[in-house]
Amino acid sequence: MTTEPTHYCEGQARLELGPGFFRPESRPSRDFGVLLLRWIQAQSPDRVGVGVLDGMAGCGIRALRYGLEGGATEVLANDADPERLPLLQANLAALGLQPPAVECSALTIEKLLATCLLQERRFDLVDLDAFGAPTAFLPLALEAVRFGGILYLASTDGRSFTGHDRTAALRRLGAAVRAQPCSWELALRLQLGLIARAAWGLGRGIRPLLSFSEGRTFRCAVQVLRHPAVGEEQLLGMQAYCHHCGSHRGMALLKIRDLVRCSCGQEAVLSGPLWRGPLQDVKVLQQLQALEAGTARTSATSASLRLLQRLSADDGLPPEASDVADLARQLGGGPPPLESLLQRLRQRGWRAQASGIAPGQFRSNAPWDEVVREGAKAR
Ligand SMILES: C[S@@+](CC[C@H](N)C(=O)[O-])C[C@H]1O[C@@H](n2cnc3c(N)ncnc32)[C@H](O)[C@@H]1O
Ligand SMILES: [Zn+2]
Repeated sequence: MTTEPTHYCEGQARLELGPGFFRPESRPSRDFGVLLLRWIQAQSPDRVGVGVLDGMAGCGIRALRYGLEGGATEVLANDADPERLPLLQANLAALGLQPPAVECSALTIEKLLATCLLQERRFDLVDLDAFGAPTAFLPLALEAVRFGGILYLASTDGRSFTGHDRTAALRRLGAAVRAQPCSWELALRLQLGLIARAAWGLGRGIRPLLSFSEGRTFRCAVQVLRHPAVGEEQLLGMQAYCHHCGSHRGMALLKIRDLVRCSCGQEAVLSGPLWRGPLQDVKVLQQLQALEAGTARTSATSASLRLLQRLSADDGLPPEASDVADLARQLGGGPPPLESLLQRLRQRGWRAQASGIAPGQFRSNAPWDEVVREGAKAR
């Protein structure tokens, strides 16, 4: 009788998963984490060592891959569930690092991050693959990132972040959130807005490098900067969505006025404060692709690379996305082919691109009336 192997392989890692939470489908987020860590090192090739905190490590797959594929020389892997600790320790033995270069713990993330602050311990990459909303530990998480390092954050509180539980959204995000078709992007921008406000509160700035979702988990990687960039505060704003005509508009909080009344005469619903800056740093995403292409030992699957390619074709600007279903509703009948609509808008001098965040969505700086007119011609 043969017994089924219990181990799992991903990238260069071979490990036991144990009975706890694990999703093979989240692989792109782990592939991207490895590439981001390599990117940090590529920014300053003379640096000695690179440190990672995997704060919600589960079986430890991220921590292991950061060490094996990302070149991490210091790895702190933590999961609040004490029953995961022996598995975490066993899996990370494959790194061949000795304490304190590798450490495993079973603390709540709040306790762990508070300890890091007391010890003035900082990392180049802090990966928090969290359940729910990250509000409670966000300032401490930012404190744990070295200047120029990356906070790689996940949340799964879709109901609040997409406006389906508005009172919870207010408690967790300090924001008004109204349901609308471009809900994944809305959730990512609210999360980035939350990160920006927490960073500014500490005197820091942020540079979003990567934002994506598959509708269940909302993931952002931001570089933490010593100070906010000039004008960074302009990037926090509100967004209006008109259920009547489908138009999206937005405005910086510093300039807020007259956002509720839509040009069609109806009242729009408002969401925010949220991040109105880029969602991706396209140049960095291209560098991640080049890093992956330049290595013999690949980390990312072709699905991850396709996602990276899609994201790098859309920086997230202008910050209001629209849904072709809204356009179809305005036109009556089916939607126009997206590519010919975008081409028409570009020919008329507007910026127009498909959204990298969600299928069937696009962004343009053309007024909505113009989008509808060109949509009619594109059919
Ligand atoms: C999404 S899973 C992690 C999956 C893992 N990073 C991976 O890629 O397979 C979230 C983990 O966070 C742990 N967790 C939940 N609340 C926590 C807290 N407050 N502090 C630290 N860990 C926590 C859970 O035990 C769970 O293993
Ligand atoms: Zn309207």
